[in-house]
Amino acid sequence: MRGLELLHLVKYFFKVDAPNTQTSKNERAAIERYAKDANLAIEIGVFEGVNTVVIGQHIKPAGKLYGIDPFFKGKLGVCFHKYVAKLNLKRHKVNKKVVLIEKLSGDAISDVPASCDFIFIDGDHSYDGIKKDWEQYSLKVRPGGIIALHDTTVPEFDPGRVALGSIAFFKDVIVHDKSFEKVETIDSLNIMRRIS
Ligand SMILES: C[S@@+](CC[C@H](N)C(=O)[O-])C[C@H]1O[C@@H](n2cnc3c(N)ncnc32)[C@H](O)[C@@H]1O
Repeated sequence: MRGLELLHLVKYFFKVDAPNTQTSKNERAAIERYAKDANLAIEIGVFEGVNTVVIGQHIKPAGKLYGIDPFFKGKLGVCFHKYVAKLNLKRHKVNKKVVLIEKLSGDAISDVPASCDFIFIDGDHSYDGIKKDWEQYSLKVRPGGIIALHDTTVPEFDPGRVALGSIAFFKDVIVHDKSFEKVETIDSLNIMRRIS
């Protein structure tokens, strides 16, 4: 498994492989629309940086994106995804706009600005994981600002995601949060706007 990840990094370096992502084309188009012209943005769950690039390319030229991911290390003590992500940001010339924070989201809360325009959450998909992210990070969005939450609705093309805690927490809590309104759902991605 780790050998395959190393091979993927090498193939990405030589432009044989594309970076991996779990977002669909439609979801990435929505992320692009809602991140557009943000000054400050946060992403939880960078992985190989595909959505980091999308956000980085569409925030304002002087904007900043805080990308949070612990980049969990494998048996060799290395996280190969991190190197794909770093190279991906550089190749797309967004590396200077992105601050990578190598921590769990719960430990990174004081490393990011108190108020921002756009947050993309795609980290810990357990019920407790997204609960913590929602409780801490939803407070960071300014009125009128957007939180995009991946894997919070079962997409038609992958009914197996129904068991995810993030889907249950969205249905139980997020959709009823009076400080937000739901704007739209794109595949598994829900867009919430802060109203107060
Ligand atoms: C489903 S992948 C994200 C995929 C990425 N958004 C994409 O589609 O390209 C989940 C990522 O979240 C990270 N992650 C898991 N728990 C996290 C947490 N508590 N805080 C920040 N990142 C976390 C993992 O290391 C992994 O890279």
